[in-house]
Amino acid sequence: MNFHLRLWRQKSADTPGRFEGIEATNITPDCSFLEMLDIVNNRLITDGKEPIAFESDCREGICGTCSLVINGVPQGPGRGAACQVYMRKFKDGETIFVEPFRAGSFPILKDLVVNRSAYERIMRAGGFISEHTGGAPDASAILIPKPVADKAMDAAACIGCGACAAACPNSSAMLFVGAKVTHLNLLPQGQPEAKKRARAMVRAMDEEGFGNCSNYYACEAVCPASVSASVIAKLNRDYIKGEVSEAVGAID
Ligand code: SF4
Ligand code: FES
Repeated sequence: MNFHLRLWRQKSADTPGRFEGIEATNITPDCSFLEMLDIVNNRLITDGKEPIAFESDCREGICGTCSLVINGVPQGPGRGAACQVYMRKFKDGETIFVEPFRAGSFPILKDLVVNRSAYERIMRAGGFISEHTGGAPDASAILIPKPVADKAMDAAACIGCGACAAACPNSSAMLFVGAKVTHLNLLPQGQPEAKKRARAMVRAMDEEGFGNCSNYYACEAVCPASVSASVIAKLNRDYIKGEVSEAVGAID
């Protein structure tokens, strides 16, 4: 298969970027999108040209590193991360646009690489429990109803990729923050800090410059972990409880 790539090239955060046309030729249909970029890069290096900068780690939809916008869609066609997109999804001879995530709080570092450390800073504000874990407790020592465990695990599937903010017209990170708050606040171990966590993570999200949710559902549509937008409702409820608790002096 052959493809006409229109790739975003940008030398650094401070220089303007532009689309560059690059041909990807003799690509097998079972090649992954990132493998196709590897092949293109090997050819660019052989020709003495600058390879395309892009990020990857696990290449199996786990780490959330491969932050690409393919034909205008964060994470590309289908459900899953960009590393799980295969070239058979495209037509032979197709023109494919490849860009980095577009969100003010994810500044472009080079070509297709963005700085997503804003999400790490939001996690540091409350995405943890302060309990000393000690040794592994007996599995039945803390009983959790199955529907609650299921909801917590569905939210825990978030891989922190940033596609939700990149897809949202408001650059809202509320699907990500809602996933973390829902995961931790539903479980008994996370409940002592539930209100403080929601309040601290929302404040950190605002400080990073992410917008608010106005119910476009674009985040849910592109999320590779199929996180439901219902986590945003849980986030809003826990955030309001945190604000009220702080106002009446019930928490610091
Ligand atoms: S909620 Fe989905 S889209 Fe957002 S960071 Fe988590 S996995 Fe990525
Ligand atoms: S490289 Fe890890 S999710 Fe894509």
